[in-house]
Formats: sequence, C-alpha cells, structure tokens
Amino acid sequence: MITTIENKQTGPKRTFRDKVFDYSCQRIGKERTKFFFKLYDLARFDLFGKPKGAIGSIDITNRCNLRCKHCYFYAHDYEEKPELTDNEWIEKLESLKETDFPFYQCSWIGGEPLLRKDLIERGMRYFKSNLVATNGTIELPNWPDVNFYISVDGRKDMHDAIRGKGCYDKIKKNANRPELKIHVSMVVNKMNYQDIEYFIEEWKDRGVRGCLFQIHTPIKGLKNDSLWPGWQLRDEILDTLLRLKEEKYGDFIGVPSLILKLMKSDRCKEITRNCIFKKMSFCFDPQGQIKKPCMMGPLADCLRCGCVLPFHMWALEDKWLMARELLMSLKHKIGKKVRP
Ligand SMILES: C[S@@+](CC[C@H](N)C(=O)[O-])C[C@H]1O[C@@H](n2cnc3c(N)ncnc32)[C@H](O)[C@@H]1O
Ligand code: SF4
Ligand code: SF4
Repeated sequence: MITTIENKQTGPKRTFRDKVFDYSCQRIGKERTKFFFKLYDLARFDLFGKPKGAIGSIDITNRCNLRCKHCYFYAHDYEEKPELTDNEWIEKLESLKETDFPFYQCSWIGGEPLLRKDLIERGMRYFKSNLVATNGTIELPNWPDVNFYISVDGRKDMHDAIRGKGCYDKIKKNANRPELKIHVSMVVNKMNYQDIEYFIEEWKDRGVRGCLFQIHTPIKGLKNDSLWPGWQLRDEILDTLLRLKEEKYGDFIGVPSLILKLMKSDRCKEITRNCIFKKMSFCFDPQGQIKKPCMMGPLADCLRCGCVLPFHMWALEDKWLMARELLMSLKHKIGKKVRP
C-alpha cells in the first residue's frame, strides 16, 4: 500500500478555498491575496473560535544532533522506538484527510526537524500554515512561506553551555537569511535570565522578524529542575520583558504584553490547570501516535508551565480582547503597506 502513495499526488484535495485563492492571485497578485486570506483566517478563527485540532505539532523525528541541558524531549522514551518512515508519515496524513482534521497550522518539531527536510517539504503541503522550530545548526532550506523559529538561549557562552560548543557560531551563519521569515526564540531559565536584553540587542539588526520568549518548564524526572527560576524570579523575568517591550523594543518582542501579564504567578496556575491548548491542539510523536498532554509530553509539570500557548489560547477565548488585538494588528499591517 505504501508504494502506491509515492505515485499519488500528495496534499489535501483542492478545496473551494484553493480555487478562490488561485483566481484571486491572477486578479490581484499573490502577495495581496495572501494578505487578505490571512486577515480572513484571523477574523474567522480568532474571533469565532479555532476548530479543535486547528493548531498543533508533529515530532517529525526522534533524532537530534544536540543534547541540550533543558530539553523535555529526551526525558521521554521516544528514541527507543523507531520513528515513522517518510511514506508512513505521508500515509498518516492521507488517512487524516478522511476525517474532519482541519489541516490549519502545523509546527514541525522533534528532535531536530531539519534532519528530515525532504519529508517536511512533502508534509507541509497539507497545511495552510507551517512553522519549523529548529536548533539552527543546519542550513535553513529555502522555504519563503514557512515561519522558522530558531532556538537561541542567550549570549554565545551561555548558549554553548546549554546546547554544546560551537552551536552559536553556526546559528549566526545560518540565521543570516533576511529573505526568510525567521524569529529567534529564547527559553528563559535560571542560568540565562540575565542575558535577555543582550539577546534582543544582538538580534535586533540582523534581519530576523522578532524575538520570542518562553520560560523553562520543569520536566518530572529530568535532573534539571535547578533551571526553573522559581515563582519570584519568574515574575521578575516577566516584568523585565514587559518593561523592555513597552519602553524600548515594542513589537520586536513577539509576545503580546497581555500574554506576559497572564503568565505571572497570580494568574498562571488557573490557566495551565485548565490548559485550553491541551484540549484544542493536536500533537503527534515520532511514531505518529497522539502525544499527551501536549508536545512537551506526559512528564511536563503543567502547573509550572512556561509555554506561551496556553496563555494565547486563553486570551483567544476573550472575544472583545481579540477584537481589539485584531484591530491593532490590522492598523499595524495597513500602516506598513501604505508606508512608501
Ligand atoms: C524540543 S525543541 C525541538 C526543535 C529544535 N530541536 C529546537 O531546539 O528548537 C523545541 C523547543 O522546545 C524548547 N524546550 C526544550 N525543553 C524545554 C523545557 N523544559 N521548557 C521549555 N522549553 C523547552 C527548546 O528550547 C526549543 O525551543
Ligand atoms: S536541539 Fe532541540 S530537540 Fe535537540 S536536544 Fe536541543 S532542545 Fe532538544
Ligand atoms: S505543559 Fe503547558 S502547554 Fe502542555 S498541557 Fe501542560 S499546561 Fe498545557
């Protein structure tokens, strides 16, 4: 059965939406069409609710060329079983087409996803929007529509202490691709929190679209609990990010102020205890099995979660707030378009 898949045209069946997209590209051009489709999706999904499984992640591989100190992935046993082959993954996506799986947004992670570039290239045709989270040590493929999140954990010495010697220089080289949509993403922990502003300064004029922040999530059984900053320092980190965003760097810090506020200790437990991301997203492990409760796996300590996604999803539930955010992003985008 698998061999016939090679000969099949891959990607979801062409929908009415695809046909409108093509027609619109011919009439007003691809860039404008993409812009209007994005606004439409924002309004449809963000104001009226994302369907279950609209966003999620695929651990496309259980392999990685690094072993970072903080990594949740290798606290689990995903490495012990063989990962799906290319054709098995495509067969899996094909079988999802027979269900009401929305094929909206997929994050390709792992392990290190760029170890399987060819497979991602085939797999991403199924989704409307794709994100690749990478350690940045492998040359980025030329995928202009993909959002790349490159993990950077502070200044060079700090990054290499967490990820391994020589990694930082490779990232600097590979991230120098202004034609691609790249964000740099820092997981803040007790070791690197003092590097936050240095990190922003280091990347602000290098052609990346912005910088993102998460806070270390403790993983049960992993001997790195010492990386968790504790509640008091965690709140101070969030206050620092809020101050830097509001006073100095604005949208270059890609996490909205509201999300940073929701992550503070007075609100966060209520949100992660009832994590909406866990209920609404899809996550597949390298064997193509549903991964629970989320991409961080069953050993993640939800009450001390530092991932931004539960907070984003929580905020999305507040329609008035979202309407305001949408209007602001519209104003921002239109402002950019009319600027000479
Ligand atoms: C597991 S990695 C997979 C993608 C790729 N190998 C990379 O490093 O970006 C995905 C992201 O999870 C982050 N991460 C790993 N362990 C974490 C933890 N315990 N808490 C928060 N984020 C973590 C990594 O820093 C990385 O940004
Ligand atoms: S590069 Fe990514 S997957 Fe690999 S060990 Fe580091 S955080 Fe984990
Ligand atoms: S670790 Fe965080 S994102 Fe994952 S299920 Fe728990 S609260 Fe949600």
